[in-house]
Amino acid sequence: MITLGIETSCDETSVAVLQDEYVLANIVSSQIAHTKFGGVVPEIAARNHIRVIIPLTTTALDVAGKQMADLDLITVTRGPGLIGALLVGLSFAKSLAISLDKPFIGVNHLEGHIYSLQLADARPRCPYLVLIVSGGHTEIVLVDKPFSYKTLGRTLDDACGEAFDKVAKVMGLPYPGGPYIEKRAKKGEIGKVDLPVPHPDGLTFSYAGLKTAVLYYTRDNPDYNIDDVAANFQEAALEHLTQVAERALRETRTRHLGLVGGVTVNSRLREKFQLLAKKVGASLHVAPPQYCTDNGAMIARAGMERFKRFGPSDLSVDVVARERLEELPHV
Ligand code: KG4
Ligand code: ZN
Repeated sequence: MITLGIETSCDETSVAVLQDEYVLANIVSSQIAHTKFGGVVPEIAARNHIRVIIPLTTTALDVAGKQMADLDLITVTRGPGLIGALLVGLSFAKSLAISLDKPFIGVNHLEGHIYSLQLADARPRCPYLVLIVSGGHTEIVLVDKPFSYKTLGRTLDDACGEAFDKVAKVMGLPYPGGPYIEKRAKKGEIGKVDLPVPHPDGLTFSYAGLKTAVLYYTRDNPDYNIDDVAANFQEAALEHLTQVAERALRETRTRHLGLVGGVTVNSRLREKFQLLAKKVGASLHVAPPQYCTDNGAMIARAGMERFKRFGPSDLSVDVVARERLEELPHV
């Protein structure tokens, strides 16, 4: 089965071609137009998707050595995400499905991230926990069995990646700030800047306090060292993730943990979770970096499984700004 995967939920346009479970092509175009605004501008995102989606599809098919007529299934992100951006991908996918007379399926973006784990060499088996850490989401989810999700906790305020981006902006680093914070943190010294590890109740996350602490520190110490602030912010932000994940592993007595979403590219995060996995005796699953940030391959991988189990989406399917994993069909 040849599956096309289309992702346009935010500021990455991506098109992938999969043959069964194998990725033949995964082309990603990251929009740099937002850099000067310090964040994603929804209308600019939508317009850029329009501009590149057809050339990207042509490139993905070329790289895969396939033609439009070879496609058996069209998959696309239907949300959550920016409405205008999602509409570009969904409308394009529907047009392709109609003109090629092929089935199409709308995929939940978070389920797509969860399926990025199925693109790794060592795949987790149910039941497993997944920590989703991206620019829009920070939540911990129990995957009981395929398609059955229970969100155990989510952020009360900012997402982890959002906090990385905002802290980077405060220090004058470019958008998106996550990779810049990681780079600067490598040169900084842990312990030089006192920043609190967040401690909300239970399995919830919170980044507002830590973000504000950085804001106050940089305001009160105008000659601050960016490397030290980056190192100590990153350490506190990641320590928070490992603490909640450890609690979730213990409370649910789950032995397998997956990490997904853009922030899981971070090498210090991977290091800290490897230590945690060893400490609690859990197996750790992380996708290769190209499948951690938004990409079409994870959408195709999730869409193909959903299609096999539930059949195609109706062509009247709409985009959604929000949609919880629990709302998806699971029986
Ligand atoms: O999954 P993703 O591509 O998009 C969303 O669905 O949000 O994640 C993007 C987020 C951004 O906040 C970005 O700063 C963060 O992932 N990110 C990182 C790193 N690379 C990307 N955060 C920390 N360290 C990194 N190396
Ligand atoms: Zn994402």
